[in-house]
Amino acid sequence: MPSHDRSRIRTLALAALFGLLAAFLLPGTPAGASAALRQHAAARGKFIGAALATGPLANESAYRDIAAAEFNQITAENAMKWDATEPSQGRFTFTGADAVVDFAAANGQQVHGHTLVWHSQTPGWVQSLGATAMRAAMREHIAQVVGRYADDPAVVSWDVVNEVFDDSGGMRTSFWYNTLGESYIADAFRAARAADPDARLCINDYNVEGINAKSTAMYNLVRTLRQQGVPVDCVGFQGHLAIQYGFPGQVQQNMQRFADLGVQVRVTELDIRMVMPRDASKDATQATYYRDTVNACLAVTACAGITIWGFTDKHSWVPDTFSGQGAALIYDENYRPKPAYTAVHDALAGGTGSDTTPPTAPGTPVASGVTATTATLTWTPSTDAGGSGLAGYTVHREQGSTDPQLGQSAGPSVTLTGLSPATRYEVYVRARDGAGNQSPASATVAFTTATGGGGGPCAVAATVQTQWGNGYVVQPVTVTNTGASALNGWTVTFTLPAGHTVTGSWNATLTTSGQTVTARNAAHNAALAPGATATFGFQAGRPDGNTATPSGYACG
Ligand code: G3I
Repeated sequence: MPSHDRSRIRTLALAALFGLLAAFLLPGTPAGASAALRQHAAARGKFIGAALATGPLANESAYRDIAAAEFNQITAENAMKWDATEPSQGRFTFTGADAVVDFAAANGQQVHGHTLVWHSQTPGWVQSLGATAMRAAMREHIAQVVGRYADDPAVVSWDVVNEVFDDSGGMRTSFWYNTLGESYIADAFRAARAADPDARLCINDYNVEGINAKSTAMYNLVRTLRQQGVPVDCVGFQGHLAIQYGFPGQVQQNMQRFADLGVQVRVTELDIRMVMPRDASKDATQATYYRDTVNACLAVTACAGITIWGFTDKHSWVPDTFSGQGAALIYDENYRPKPAYTAVHDALAGGTGSDTTPPTAPGTPVASGVTATTATLTWTPSTDAGGSGLAGYTVHREQGSTDPQLGQSAGPSVTLTGLSPATRYEVYVRARDGAGNQSPASATVAFTTATGGGGGPCAVAATVQTQWGNGYVVQPVTVTNTGASALNGWTVTFTLPAGHTVTGSWNATLTTSGQTVTARNAAHNAALAPGATATFGFQAGRPDGNTATPSGYACG
């Protein structure tokens, strides 16, 4: 089996180039305010990782963009498992695994290999082998999979064995154990060391984050294996937590006792689920669990970093496995960062414990470019006198006792996405500093999203009245109140083709943000009884010969 066919030099060069670019171009590069998770983690000597699924990695640019910008270590969620890499004996397939490794190399990220020997996601042909053949198949699988990436500098570590204990701390009576006895564990580590002498080799399990019977069994096994000269370099605590079960006890102490055995430790699969539906109070609890996990790792020198098992609630194993539970990750299903993101960010950025002075309140936000699902807010920045510097802003919807977070930003502007059409929002902004101090809330701003064509309180129709080489008039734009109650004020949004500009308007006030135009009623046509209409018009210029006209008219 040839090794992964990218040269060490090319990968190193790409990684070095990315590092340079990141240092100068990524948001927030002057340390502090707007830096991504990976920059803060690197500054603390840790990795911050994410497990990636090959489907969205291939198909979703938002997924790729966040994965590249925020994380410096990648684990394949499924693509390196046995059923993916050797579905039938001796037939190795690395399509998904290579896609993950190539993505990481292109973005200056390291790869943690997951996983070589596990009782799950292992094909039936392995499970039905006799002892001699099973041991040979295990050694061959490890030799081929680890060997493929042995010369690839992106791939730095492996979960050699995964979940070898049962929940009370006995050996799991898997087909591996039942056929080969406990010796398969030492055998697997030795085979992995032979295949790549430089890779860091880990044992990985769940429910071992705190001190309990299972983690103590793991501790005893690691100590014994190392006394026997078995190359166990690292211990992975998966970290599949749930807010309804409480935060595990003595996480930092548990990490430290393993570290004292001479192994590196890490959190390998962190996610923190909740009973749905999600709300602000559960989000806040979840954020403290993320924060406390990061802080435990920061407090233990031998803790190399933390990998989150996915990063967006859009793609998570949790709802498929735990009925009625979910929202376990740091971005929501629309790729909006949640309070958990802020908690991870601020924990990684922390370390300035003496700053207890919050930033000043941001200025009142101004809403623009309101569509059915998005709105842009801008505000006068806060100032921070406490010494740790501004870390960013969070935007909240005023909703009574709990105000959900709608977005976050590094600077004094953000475009909210995933909003509900035809809905009134009252929002405010808070700033926070590098020590996690929160500013008072800004004053609120209210806006109403457009209908998105979906049966909201009004409808809009536009007619291009005349056009010429480099301009046109749209008239009338007719707004109809389709609801059952009177409207007092309306907003129409539409998209201007690239290069076009509004040169005049009547019976409405038009503002432009990028290509989005927002038309607001004039005083005399604000009030619309049910079924009534108002009209306005505008003129626009465009490059000579360009025949495009505006599109995407929406009303709210
Ligand atoms: O790809 C197929 C798809 O073609 C098919 O239509 C679909 C129907 O069920 O299944 C898809 O495969 C699923 C696969 O995830 C990819 O989405 C499998 O059914 C499903 O079982 C598999 O679940 C994975 C699980 O391991 C399997 O045990 C999860 O994605 C993955 O997050 C999870 O990860 C494990 C770690 O490896 C070890 N620690 C625990 C962690 C969570 O269970």
